[in-house]
Amino acid sequence: MFQNTKNIKPFEKKVWLSSPTMHGDEQKWVNDAFVKNWITTAGENINEVEKIVAERIGVKYAVALSCGTAALHLATKLAGEKLYGQTTPNGGTLQGHKVFCSDMTFDATINPVAYEDGEAVFIDTDPDTWNMCPKALEKAFEIYPEVKLVVVAHLYGIPGKIDEIRAICNRHGALIVEDAAESFGATYKGKETGGFGDFGAISFNGNKIITGSSGGMFLTNSKEDADKVRKWSTQSREAAPWYQHEEIGYNYRMSNIIAGIVRGQMNYLDEHIAQKRAIYERYKKGLEGLPVTMNPFDSANSVPNYWLSCMLINKEAMCRQVRSENEPMYISEKGKTCPTEILESLAKYNAEGRPIWKPMHMQPIYRMNPFVTANGNGRGQSNAYIDCGAAKDVGADIFARGLCLPSDNKMTPEQQDVIIEIVKRCFE
Ligand SMILES: Cc1ncc(COP(=O)(O)O)c(C=O)c1O
Repeated sequence: MFQNTKNIKPFEKKVWLSSPTMHGDEQKWVNDAFVKNWITTAGENINEVEKIVAERIGVKYAVALSCGTAALHLATKLAGEKLYGQTTPNGGTLQGHKVFCSDMTFDATINPVAYEDGEAVFIDTDPDTWNMCPKALEKAFEIYPEVKLVVVAHLYGIPGKIDEIRAICNRHGALIVEDAAESFGATYKGKETGGFGDFGAISFNGNKIITGSSGGMFLTNSKEDADKVRKWSTQSREAAPWYQHEEIGYNYRMSNIIAGIVRGQMNYLDEHIAQKRAIYERYKKGLEGLPVTMNPFDSANSVPNYWLSCMLINKEAMCRQVRSENEPMYISEKGKTCPTEILESLAKYNAEGRPIWKPMHMQPIYRMNPFVTANGNGRGQSNAYIDCGAAKDVGADIFARGLCLPSDNKMTPEQQDVIIEIVKRCFE
């Protein structure tokens, strides 16, 4: 904790990382579902949000599901089925197959590979965007030329280098599952994220840029694929007068109540993005002069949705910090700080920050999976060094030095000034 607490008081009301922002229209469509008694996984709200989201992203079909994880699961399953057919008796499609996956992401991106009995190979992170590194992906294809599926996420609302990734995948005949859960509304070369993959997914979870409390969408340009996912998501019922099942199914469809909330929120997507952008820019300006940088993006090609503002502390300004599996420790040092000290200070003043999402190759559950860095090293060699510039485990380095700042779109400029001041005092 910083020592000089003069003129800083804890926030009376908590400043959140990213909380839902309702406007009233949501209630209208929820009420509409009540009045019409469509309190189920079918109804006008669902049809409408599928139409609006598909139009917004620029894909032909969107299938409304219970969550982004369900969309990613069915996208991954569909890719597996196209590539390999069903490889296990219970319908798994990836048994015996490796899948290249973003390493710096939330585990929902890549768990579906395990649901389908496949093996995730983690691809290191690009320091320019904090997303999948195209060079590391290219290396991975050198090491495992047989791989035919890549699962790629856009972290914190910032588009990855999706054109380069697409070009590499095309050269190797690989399909892409694109996880745009955090980046709904962000564009790359003028095109919305979620529409680049062979299959895409977005999320309406409570902390996302717009929310339905939960919910997600599967995105595709193929009618056949949309129909298949819709069928899988409703227990794989066949067209018969009774419950007839020829393959494994899931109960993954979105509720018409949740669709009502999403329907109301859609009108405010651009407003939320503008608010988040203002927050990012205010942090950038307010933190000028400190030994830190913001989460970077390719400004020539991409427009983020600025979902979360993050910062990275320069190496020379880091005090000593260690993390066990469950606990952090640090030693305060004059003129230096670390994510743990800043997060502790924010919490003390009633503001919510977060550590950077811990990379997947560092997670106990995935520690035995292969990991490929841009210089071709994997585990062992790469974990011994944490050196961003030399492309040795970029993800571990960002996890060590980075943090997510409070990014709630209802935060006032005055509250943000206090947060900036707290960060500054950690460096004193
Ligand atoms: C990158 C990423 N992928 C997938 C998900 C899963 O979405 P959901 O919570 O809607 O299942 C989330 C968020 O929760 C996410 O942040």
